[in-house]
Amino acid sequence: MKVGIDAISFYTPAMYLSMEQLAKARNEDPNKYLIGIGQQEQSVVPNTQDVVTMAANAAEQIINDDNRAKIDLVIFGTESGIDNSKSAAIYLQTLLELSPRTRAFETKQACYGATAGLQMARDYVQLHPDKQALVIGADVARYGLNTPGEVTQGGGAVAMIVSANPRIISFDGNSAFYSKDIMDFWRPLHTTEAIVDGHYSNDVYVNFFKETWNQYQQITDLSIADLSAMIFHLPYPKMGIKGLRAVLPEATPDKQAELKTAFSFGSMYNKRVGNLYTGSLYLSLLSLIDNDDHLKVGDTVGLFSYGSGAQGEFFTGQVEAGFFDANRKQRMQTMLNSRRQLSVPEYESIFNSWPKIKAGDLILSVSDDDAKFVFAGVKDDQRQYLNRK
Ligand code: HMG
Repeated sequence: MKVGIDAISFYTPAMYLSMEQLAKARNEDPNKYLIGIGQQEQSVVPNTQDVVTMAANAAEQIINDDNRAKIDLVIFGTESGIDNSKSAAIYLQTLLELSPRTRAFETKQACYGATAGLQMARDYVQLHPDKQALVIGADVARYGLNTPGEVTQGGGAVAMIVSANPRIISFDGNSAFYSKDIMDFWRPLHTTEAIVDGHYSNDVYVNFFKETWNQYQQITDLSIADLSAMIFHLPYPKMGIKGLRAVLPEATPDKQAELKTAFSFGSMYNKRVGNLYTGSLYLSLLSLIDNDDHLKVGDTVGLFSYGSGAQGEFFTGQVEAGFFDANRKQRMQTMLNSRRQLSVPEYESIFNSWPKIKAGDLILSVSDDDAKFVFAGVKDDQRQYLNRK
């Protein structure tokens, strides 16, 4: 029986920053950001959105009466947690009015959390084919104003329904993974911004990719010739190119051209959103299936998931008959194109308005945020979420 992703959706807030403008404000050559990093725009997350609301705004696009009756597992991958105890999945289950007869919890290992969730959901549905799982990757990528990481910020949420006989992609179970205790990027509890050893993190990423790719080939006897596309966790688009370049010499010239084209389709959305940590690989998958019209049913797609700290996994799936959905693509384009462009001072002010980690009530003005689900503040140490439509 095939198991995989039956539906996928995305939400990012309705504001963005142009990387050309950011480069000018930071006295950098715009081509460093546009070409050297490969980023064109970056979503900016207002203080009225967090991982819970972004996940709800993404998931409500694919929840319907049919899957609502079958979902009894909600796995929320995030590294932008909102509580040390209570998981974002429980809030989400309530906001989406899912059945209380649900297992709902959070997974964490940097950007790898959603992949952990996806693999667990796959195994679960394999055992319980009449059930479905909702898997989330939602994060806010923050490094700080005037830092080298600033150009790689962003945020948003990807929601995926995992089912038997999926319409989008089925996972064949072929997978190679690798973990090691490494300090390339981490987020201590006292701050909302990441600490990162940027150049070291790039090297570790490529090493983990090569390690898992080599292991994958040994386990499966498959090679680069068997793949129609290779997609990557994309902290920024150039990072995936560095990964791809590490293995392209193994391919024929025609295969190299095919994989490079697929990569560029698979990074179109990421170039406009920026890093969304756990969701980035799956935003790339969405970008690939919406835009790469050379993909055919049955084609094998390789996915590389990387979470700093560090965990890597390379796995494969086969494209299924319902992978292309014109309405989903239209929705995606409307969401990206209707975002309001911010000036750099506006972005800086929104960045600085993010609540600091401290006790006490917080009342946020939600009138400027048109999203259905919003975060309205904190009362008596309890987070206040609104469903407004
Ligand atoms: P930097 O030091 O400012 O940039 O930081 P640089 O000097 O390395 O330049 C970047 C690229 O632009 C270079 O290309 C330059 O040559 C090029 P490369 O050598 O890498 O191919 N460049 C130009 N190109 C065209 N025209 C020009 C020009 N000038 C320079 N005029 C860095 C870059 C990525 C390190 C920084 O932004 C950073 O620290 N980002 C955050 C960390 C990160 O994203 N790491 C990625 C791997 S780790 C990961 O993926 C996990 C993560 O998502 C977290 C998680 O798992 O939770 C981050």
